[in-house]
Amino acid sequence: MASASFAKLTASSSPWIAQQSFNQRPGSSSRSPAARVSVIRAGSYSEELVKTAKTIASPGRGILAIDESNATCGKRLASIGLDNTEANRQAYRQLLLTTPGLGQYISGSILFEETLFQSTTDGKKMVDCLREQNIVPGIKVDKGLVPLPGSNNESWCQGLDGLASRSAEYYNQGARFAKWRTVVSIPCGPSALAVKEAAWGLARYAAISQDNGLVPIVEPEILLDGDHSIDTTLEVAERVWAEVFYYLAENNVMFEGILLKPSMVTPGADNKEKADPETVAKYTLNMLKRRVPPAVPGIMFLSGGQSEMEATLNLHAMNQSPNPWHVSFSYARALQNSVLKAWQGRPENAEAGQKALLARAKANSLAQLGKYSAEGESEDAKKGMFVKGYTY
Ligand code: 13P
Repeated sequence: MASASFAKLTASSSPWIAQQSFNQRPGSSSRSPAARVSVIRAGSYSEELVKTAKTIASPGRGILAIDESNATCGKRLASIGLDNTEANRQAYRQLLLTTPGLGQYISGSILFEETLFQSTTDGKKMVDCLREQNIVPGIKVDKGLVPLPGSNNESWCQGLDGLASRSAEYYNQGARFAKWRTVVSIPCGPSALAVKEAAWGLARYAAISQDNGLVPIVEPEILLDGDHSIDTTLEVAERVWAEVFYYLAENNVMFEGILLKPSMVTPGADNKEKADPETVAKYTLNMLKRRVPPAVPGIMFLSGGQSEMEATLNLHAMNQSPNPWHVSFSYARALQNSVLKAWQGRPENAEAGQKALLARAKANSLAQLGKYSAEGESEDAKKGMFVKGYTY
C-alpha cells in the first residue's frame, strides 16, 4: 500500500515537493530554485515499475536467468558437445521458454539481446512464449566486464553509453525489467575504487532503466573466488551494499521499483570450512537487514556456482521466517545444469529437458515458500558448478 501511494505521489504533479522536503535540512531554506527543481523520480513509469516488480516478486515464483552472452552460452552448449551456432542457441532457449507449466514457478526470465528479438522455429516470438505463461520478459543490458585501470587487477562493467535508447528499444520489444551484473573480487581487495565504480555504475544504470520503464535488477556479484572466511564475505558485502544504496539514493532511484540480485554470504570457494544452509541464511539475512530498506520488493539471489541443491537448500533456509522483502531466486547455473544433462542436444530428449527444468523450478518455488525437502534429489543436483573467474 505504501508503495502504491508513493507511486501516485511521483506520478502526480508533486515530485518537486517530494524532492524538496527530501533535500531540505532544518534551517536550510535558502536553496536556489535551480538546485530544487532537479529531480523527477522514475519519470512517467512509476506505477508500472511498482506493478512489474511486484509481479516478479510474487509468492512461490522466481526468475529463470538465461541471459548468457553468446560466448558463455557457447560454453553451456560445448558441455554437451554442441557447436555455438545461432540455431543451437535458439533450440536450447526455445526448449526452456516453451516448457509447459513454467509460469507456475517462474515469474520473470532474463534474456540476452539475441533471444529478446528472436522467434521460435515455428515463428512465434520468444517474448510471446513468456507472456502467455504470465512470465515477465527481462533483458541483460550491461556490456560485460573489462579491466579497471588504477585498481588491483579488478574490473568494471561497461554499458552506460547509449543505454537510454537501447532500453527504450527493449521496452518496445516487450522487456519490462533489466539486469546489470558487475562483480567485486575479495582476493583482489576489493579496492575502494572498484567498489565505488561498481556502485556508481549500478546506480546510473538503475536510474536510466526506470526512466525507460524497465525495473532494474541491481547485481553487484561478490565472487565466490578465494579462500576467505564467511566473516570476510559479510564485511565486504556490507561495504558494497552500503555504497550501492548510497548511490541509488543519490541518483533518485525509486526503491519500490527495483529488485536486487545479491550473492549469498558464504565462505570463499577455496576455504576448507563449508557453511551449512542455516549459517548461510543467518549471515545473508543479517547483512541484508542491515543494508536493504523494506521498500525494496524483492531479493532474487544468484547461484554463483553453488550446486543446484545447495542453492535450493540455502533459499529454503532463508524462508523459514517472514522477511521484509520477497526472498527468491534468479538462477542461471542452478536451474540449467540438469536441463543440459537431460537434453544432450537431442530433439528426442527435449521433453526430458523440460521436465528437468520444471523439477528445479518447482524445488526453488517450494524453497521460496520455505517448504522444500531435499529427499530424492539426484546426485547431479548435488554437484557444485563453481568455475574460477567465471564470466557472463
Ligand atoms: P548464476 O545463478 O549462474 O550465478 O547466474 C547469475 C546471473 O547473473 C545470471 O543472470
